[in-house]
Amino acid sequence: MLLSVSPAYVGIRGAARMLDIPIRGILEGPDGLDPEAVAVAARAVRAEGKRPVALYLVPDFSNPSGTVLPLAARERLLEVAAQEDLVILEDNPYGLFARDGESMPTLKSLDAERRVVYLGSFSKSAFPGARLGYMIADQEVTDSTGTTRTLAQTLSKAKAMYTVGSSTLSQAVIGGYLVEYGYDLRTPTRELAAVYQERLSATLAALAEEFPAGQEHGVSWNTPRGGFFLTLTVPFTADLTAMERSARDYRVSWAPMSMFYLDGGGHREIRLGFSNLAPEAIREGIARLARFIKETPRDTPQEHE
Ligand SMILES: Cc1ncc(COP(=O)(O)O)c(C=O)c1O
Repeated sequence: MLLSVSPAYVGIRGAARMLDIPIRGILEGPDGLDPEAVAVAARAVRAEGKRPVALYLVPDFSNPSGTVLPLAARERLLEVAAQEDLVILEDNPYGLFARDGESMPTLKSLDAERRVVYLGSFSKSAFPGARLGYMIADQEVTDSTGTTRTLAQTLSKAKAMYTVGSSTLSQAVIGGYLVEYGYDLRTPTRELAAVYQERLSATLAALAEEFPAGQEHGVSWNTPRGGFFLTLTVPFTADLTAMERSARDYRVSWAPMSMFYLDGGGHREIRLGFSNLAPEAIREGIARLARFIKETPRDTPQEHE
């Protein structure tokens, strides 16, 4: 069984479903996943007679919640993984976009026991159409013939079979990009990071303007320090029907957070993605969103909430 932070990036649920791997969500808090909750979940799964094998999380600016796992929790999570014999799948497409001086060490960099499989992406740092990423998987795997290879070598063989290799065009472009920047992704992403930070600030400022503190509007939001997303709590059920009405009648779209919760939840939350919009468009988008929210009748929370 795969344990996963919840709410979670939809890709992990899709991948688990494709491979018929059962997945169990562990609710995160404002500071991401609580390592003790991971230990409790692993034991609960074992008590059911199942085997918790791995844990998926996005420790830096999680999609969808924007949370960042503090350093002490990173260290404790590695201890819990050792105690509970879990492999950690660290998915980190957004870590490069921290403010200067605020970067956290990756779980992989703290991993003395080779418990962490690290997943990186060039989509956000180089360009989205590349559809190219990378994996650090230095665990040793011994196959039925007794041959020992790294997990990365084993997986790259499997990947070549499943996908017939990644596009050579994409690989050439990303290869050139890496050579040009001396294999350092931080330098070329520094400017991009500033762009995303400006967009995050514009989103937070526009929200504060539309929903002033001290007024009774029933709207609140988190304040991530980076990444591409933030979460807004609204006083009505924010499902796909509401989203469609928002897009059609107010020309602003968002994602219902309930889509990201693995075991239910988030029915009155929406995910705002701001990475692709200039500050002017963000202000206009938040103004439209505010009209939509103010004109949507409040409802009483349903039982499932
Ligand atoms: C947490 C997370 N992992 C993975 C991906 C996918 O990255 P890529 O574009 O490299 O497929 C995304 C993209 O949104 C993401 O948010």
